[in-house]
Amino acid sequence: MNTFLIRGRVLTFLAEPKAIDDTAAWAYVEDGAVLVRDGKVVASGEYADLFARAGGDVEIADHRPHLVLPGFIDMHLHFPQTQAIASYGAQLLEWLNTYIFVEEQKFASRTHADAVAERFMDELIANGTTTAVAYCSVHPTSVDAYFSAAEARGMRMIGGKVMMDRNAPDALTDTPQQGYDETKALIAKWHGRGRAHYAISPRFAITSTPEQMAMAQALVAEHPDCYVQTHLSENHDEIAFATSLYPQAKDYTDIYARYGLLNERMLLGHCIHLSDREISVLAETSAVGVFCPTSNLFLGSGLFDRDRFDAAGARWSVATDVGAGTSFSMLETMGEAYKVLHLNGQKLTPFNSFYRMTLGNARALGLEDRIGSLHAGADADIVILDSSAKPAMEFRMRTATSLAEELFILQTMGDDRCIAETYVAGKPMKTRAAKCSAAAKRLLETA
Ligand code: GUN
Ligand code: ZN
Repeated sequence: MNTFLIRGRVLTFLAEPKAIDDTAAWAYVEDGAVLVRDGKVVASGEYADLFARAGGDVEIADHRPHLVLPGFIDMHLHFPQTQAIASYGAQLLEWLNTYIFVEEQKFASRTHADAVAERFMDELIANGTTTAVAYCSVHPTSVDAYFSAAEARGMRMIGGKVMMDRNAPDALTDTPQQGYDETKALIAKWHGRGRAHYAISPRFAITSTPEQMAMAQALVAEHPDCYVQTHLSENHDEIAFATSLYPQAKDYTDIYARYGLLNERMLLGHCIHLSDREISVLAETSAVGVFCPTSNLFLGSGLFDRDRFDAAGARWSVATDVGAGTSFSMLETMGEAYKVLHLNGQKLTPFNSFYRMTLGNARALGLEDRIGSLHAGADADIVILDSSAKPAMEFRMRTATSLAEELFILQTMGDDRCIAETYVAGKPMKTRAAKCSAAAKRLLETA
């Protein structure tokens, strides 16, 4: 049995913080610890209590004075777009056609897919993200590359092959039957294997014919425990095009509703320009809107209206959306989320930001029993945060007087440099990945 203590300032959420002084929503222990055994949290709380409980001679990973939190969860990004971040000057549809549909063709090669999957997983870990929901390319081997790289690191990851049978280059399209058969085979191979979960992934209404949507509907009905992911209402031209392709639908949301795709496992990227009717449909069906602030700013898509979601009782979550999103860092993402909401006169408290990245996103996935908090029995996916990692942060932190202020500094000024360590199922993976890449570099230099 591998038992050890992670020592530091422990912060974990119990509920959604409704205000900056809603102290019942979180547990914070200044001299805290997490007792980990065989990749699971045994308990978290006061260091002295846990040290005594562990019998005294337990191994200690001492991370004082850093913060200890559950690993971050990223609800929407595109693994084949890892090398296409920062593609200049276009809004959604032009950006897809000019850059993304070119880049994704490279994933016909398993070698390329493997190489990018390795970098992708290490980048997530470097940024403290221990679970993510990603689109792969249309090629089934890209899904194999993705889940193999996740499995090698022991990560709980969600993903699936995109289904596209129109409005994309021939090299990136499947057919309704092929999309169904390949998805079915990938579910059989990966869903529930180790920590992998499958997401049925019709890319969006523009790239799927009604026949493919019907196939997606069949897949969802046959695999109710799989996630479903697609894009909704990101950009005005996209909305006009999508609704023109489905003239019977009341609006964009109704396209997905007509194919029975809206349920509590449906993750809908963006959801920026929705009518009140559409938001109420999301609330009724429990589908989850995914707010992607860096992407929405980068593509000039618009401003997510969180208050309308909350007022309607609709569920929402947060994500990077790499590669329209410009950073793998959930800290930077929440820094931009704050600014997007601010532009709409809405406030995002630092506690709500850190809740969203952890327990909030875990709840959106229905995985709060496993990830997103440090309760007994949870997976030991844990991030260690250094609030003074950059000189400018260290200087700013000298005047910080509260935990709220520290968290706000972290999300406003922080990035991967603030991630001192990332534990995946109890294993310290960030330093391990850094050591591996240093060794690989040395090998290259001596070759
Ligand atoms: N809509 C359909 N595909 C995509 C994509 O890859 N990125 C973004 N941001 N929106 C999309
Ligand atoms: Zn996306």
